[in-house]
Amino acid sequence: RIVYVNGRFLPYEEATIPIMDRGFLFADGIYEVSAVLNGRLVDNEAHLARLDRSLAEIGIRNPHDAAGWTRLEEELVARNGLKEGVVYMQVTRGVAERDFVFPSDGTPPTVVMFTQAKSIAANPLADRGAKVVSVEDLRWKRRDIKSVALLAQVLAKQHAAAAGASEAWMHEDGFVTEGGSSTAFIITQDGRIVTRPLSTAILPGITRRAVMRLAEEQGLTVEERAFTLEEAFGAAEAFFTSASAFVMPIVEIDGRRIGGGQPGPLTRRLRGLYLEMAA
Ligand code: PDD
Repeated sequence: RIVYVNGRFLPYEEATIPIMDRGFLFADGIYEVSAVLNGRLVDNEAHLARLDRSLAEIGIRNPHDAAGWTRLEEELVARNGLKEGVVYMQVTRGVAERDFVFPSDGTPPTVVMFTQAKSIAANPLADRGAKVVSVEDLRWKRRDIKSVALLAQVLAKQHAAAAGASEAWMHEDGFVTEGGSSTAFIITQDGRIVTRPLSTAILPGITRRAVMRLAEEQGLTVEERAFTLEEAFGAAEAFFTSASAFVMPIVEIDGRRIGGGQPGPLTRRLRGLYLEMAA
């Protein structure tokens, strides 16, 4: 397995980061995850644009332009012979003596990339449908930034896993915000696709945007509004989206069956459209 660290491709076993890295000490960094299907990156320009925006929001200089990132990602995918899975990219504020305040301007950011092989298009869970468990959203107020500070999501997803579910739906003030690592969608009994509008309360999902476009191209109605767990329990269908799951049908939320416990027809159609687009 070959990984990338600060300008070098090297075997995973030889890749190390100093203990004073601010990503390690303060979670002072940003990450991105792009899908790879048939050896090719999926919707990667949008992921790189979000990476650039997240870095700018916390004042870390982006060490590469989009073309530079793409070259590195493609080389990493090729060196690992990756056909299906994800590329993980992380940029932290670099290595410096522990101090909350930013290090001096010349401190180079730490850049790490690796690949993970994973069935995304061929994930058998998509045929069965996923179970979801709700948890209170305990995160900070800038969830639009793809920060490596993921403790709330770690706890949320561990809670879900312990309950036999594959995703946690986080809620705040009675409304669903998003999944632990995905965007939440429901489909109403009259066939409208509902997802929360973009704000600082959620991450602007790249898959979310692609799925909304595909749905609108099909003449389907997409409604951007917050929805409650109660509404989700009574929805015709539900699904979540992410680079590592694409469109994942949900068949159960907090033990309540959604759509008769089967992946819904509209969700399956959206998954099919996304797979066609990504292939
Ligand atoms: N997570 N919301 C949150 C909180 C996420 O962490 C993610 C992605 C998404 C979906 O965004 P996108 O469609 O751009 O992948 C929404 C990645 C996959 C992760 O943390 O592994």
